Amino acid sequence: MPYDLLLFTVTDRIATVTVNRPDKLNALNDAVLDELDRAADEIRDRADVGGAILTGAGAKAFVAGADIAELVKQGPFDGKARALRGQAVLRKLETCPKPVVAAVNGFALGGGCELAMACHVRIAAEHAKFGQPEVKLGITPGFGGTQRLPRLVGKGRALEMILSGQMIDAAEAFRIGLVNRVVPAAELLPTCEKLVRTILAQGPLAVALCIEAVDRGLDIGLGDGLLLEANHFGLAAASADMREGMRAFLEKRDAKFTGA
Ligand code: COA
Repeated sequence: MPYDLLLFTVTDRIATVTVNRPDKLNALNDAVLDELDRAADEIRDRADVGGAILTGAGAKAFVAGADIAELVKQGPFDGKARALRGQAVLRKLETCPKPVVAAVNGFALGGGCELAMACHVRIAAEHAKFGQPEVKLGITPGFGGTQRLPRLVGKGRALEMILSGQMIDAAEAFRIGLVNRVVPAAELLPTCEKLVRTILAQGPLAVALCIEAVDRGLDIGLGDGLLLEANHFGLAAASADMREGMRAFLEKRDAKFTGA
């Protein structure tokens, strides 16, 4: 089924997913969330896709938040359902066994900041701006902001952003650890592609296990996390990719991983 509000292209194993509502600064309405859910399935399931880049259409915004024109109509129960739905879609991206990189090409506010935080890595254009401005609207973040932001930048910095509703620029986002890197706008997509391509050259089963170990490990105690890691380490040893990776090193050549 084609997408109406996303662009989904695949080039050389990299899917580029572009939220495409530039006239509304790519705000996430319910229909966009449905399509993002479908896109997350497609990234995960398509054999010809090894990883993905998520970005926004136009030069101004990555995603300027959930669509306020829809939020204004909500009551308590559909409001809760909308938050749970958004959280589930973002969680699907976060737990994708293939790398998902956010190319933050402008405003990443509210649900946009939350969407970027659900990606495995965030790279920002110099003019990008980040914020959780929900309190200005009399609401709380709903797509994971109160949970992922403190995990990424620490409680104090997260609370400053969430309670003040103020935006920070890309340099500050980098300083506090909200983004991995800041690059000139023209270099944003090439930088993201280079990173995804670097990851695609690694053992894909190992990459998937690393994503899972880091994701699950953050929610459990150190002892259980280390056990999870040891289990993943053992599991990787069952793969042809481990044998190929080590043989390639010893034979001083590039590994040819098959994902088996
Ligand atoms: N939901 C719905 N529409 C949005 C939107 C959102 N989150 N963010 C921007 N838009 C729409 C505007 O209503 C406007 O539509 P219009 O041209 O039909 O009036 C269009 O996108 C352009 O936005 P505009 O506000 O005119 O651009 P700006 O350059 O003056 O300001 C922002 C840019 C990002 C500062 C401003 O749009 C903004 O504050 N957006 C809301 C951010 C927010 O609160 N997000 C969290 C939501 S929970």
